[in-house]
Amino acid sequence: MASVPSLAASVHQRVADALSAALPEAGAADPLLRRSDRADFQANGVLGLAKKLKSNPRELAAKVVASLSAGELIAGIEVSGPGFLNITVSDEAITSTLAARAADDRLGVPYAATPGTTVIDYSQPNVAKEMHVGHLRSTVIGDAIVQILEHRGENVVRRHHIGDWGTQFGMLIQYLVEHPHELDHESDAAGGDGEGEAAMARLNRLYKASRALFDSDEEFKDRARRRVVDLQAGDRETRDLWHKIVDESKIYFQDVYDKLDVEILDADVVGESAYNDDLQTVVKDLEESGVAVRSEGALCVFFDDVKGPDGNPVPLIVQKSDGGFGYAATDLAAVRDRVGTLKADTLLYVVDARQALHFKMVFETARRAGWLPEGAARQLAFGTVLGKDGKPFKTREGETVRLVDLLDEAIGRAAAVVREKAQDLTEQEIAERAAQVGIGAVKYADLSTSMTRDYVFDLDRMVSLNGDTSVYLQYAHARIQSILRKAGGTRPAAHPELPLAPAERALGLHLDEFSATLEGVAETYEPHKLASYLFQLASLYTTFYDQCPVLKAESPAAVENRLFLCDVTARTLRQGMSLLGIRAPERL
Ligand code: ARG
Repeated sequence: MASVPSLAASVHQRVADALSAALPEAGAADPLLRRSDRADFQANGVLGLAKKLKSNPRELAAKVVASLSAGELIAGIEVSGPGFLNITVSDEAITSTLAARAADDRLGVPYAATPGTTVIDYSQPNVAKEMHVGHLRSTVIGDAIVQILEHRGENVVRRHHIGDWGTQFGMLIQYLVEHPHELDHESDAAGGDGEGEAAMARLNRLYKASRALFDSDEEFKDRARRRVVDLQAGDRETRDLWHKIVDESKIYFQDVYDKLDVEILDADVVGESAYNDDLQTVVKDLEESGVAVRSEGALCVFFDDVKGPDGNPVPLIVQKSDGGFGYAATDLAAVRDRVGTLKADTLLYVVDARQALHFKMVFETARRAGWLPEGAARQLAFGTVLGKDGKPFKTREGETVRLVDLLDEAIGRAAAVVREKAQDLTEQEIAERAAQVGIGAVKYADLSTSMTRDYVFDLDRMVSLNGDTSVYLQYAHARIQSILRKAGGTRPAAHPELPLAPAERALGLHLDEFSATLEGVAETYEPHKLASYLFQLASLYTTFYDQCPVLKAESPAAVENRLFLCDVTARTLRQGMSLLGIRAPERL
């Protein structure tokens, strides 16, 4: 496993050296190198440097050019405009660098120099409730970030902070106590669907029935409230029934995760309930340190800059006046656990942007209490999924759309696309590919827009073969595999001595940027930049494929070098897609 310096890094180094040779008093100056349309790279650093040292920029640029005589790496360099350097790298350097990447399982992508521990809170559905598009976003974005960070060597701890606690459980459990057969499988009419669907159907029924009673029967309401106290106190029978409800929900969640092709481990599901025993300590510490104060009986934390529409401060309520704990207390306990016990350097929360104020207040409270170093926690806030009418996605009846229904529909659409293209696929193969294409499409649509933005859930667009979709990437990948199969399947060797056509250079230079792209994405937590890199890669490959015959190239060496480019492209696509949770089937 060897990390391979990118062409950009090598050129950067050479120009920096030339700069300090031409102007020793400049010290270590940054050449400000970037990719450019005019040449391969442009360095703009001479201008600022000349200005600072009061010398003529074009003269300085000429000096740098003189000391950067063309060699193996740099094929040409020119001064343009007021003192920009336009730099072209040699074809040989492009092919050799790619050959070094190809020789490495990780395509030359380095591990982080100083990996730390990141605890990431994502995919946190609520027990006894359906999963919806918000949970889709958290799951898909969180999973991609986990893969990207782990690929860099970061120690990642996953936490699924599921909603498995709170007053509604009093209602559900009390109903079960009074109707002991409610969750029995035998009484279940839903057949045919998966086990998870059946579990969800039972939970829905329980939820509706208990809610109806809760809203209409004051005495039941009282019994339900007392049941919450029993639950929090750890009463045996109450806990057993609670477990039953949670386990039933987990069957359903797992079914959705399987369909979504995301691995969620039970050991990482640490829901709100897990912090129950810490809540008293949280309250005690906050009150004793004065971070929180009693206000109308509730324990509150105030912030100068958080006010309601009436101008009155809006506090974070850690404990309600009736003694009950809410969402904030649990999150504070979780911060303590993650920093104190799990030793996290970084805390990430992949949660809907509409919870931004909650996290702002939780982080600030934890910081004041000394539980959280400044800047260590960050909400990766995502936007809302919209319907075609531009409003938050709802069914025609105004209800939240069930995630499973959407996924099934995506798979159905994908099946039509696969069937149309399929030549010799069996029904089973079509179903398999349809799942990979349909789920890939949903994930890609989510990951390819910047996460803070809202996006419209439009299946027609998502499964389209042309355009910025995962299907386009999957087809590019499958097409390469088919060429490689035709060529005989052994790994092709590079021929750095061969000149490259423009489309080959463009493809090669982009392939070389994979490593730097991943590094940036891991630092800024922006998977959409990886998506756009991959889309560009597939587009550049398409141009290459249109302009450069592969199997019919002019010489055996040229054939092999193009096969080599195909192979590196396929491996880069596959690696990148896998980090986004998208399958790259061998055939489509
Ligand atoms: N269960 C919550 C919901 O469905 C999300 C939980 C987010 N994580 C957290 N640590 N508060 O909206």
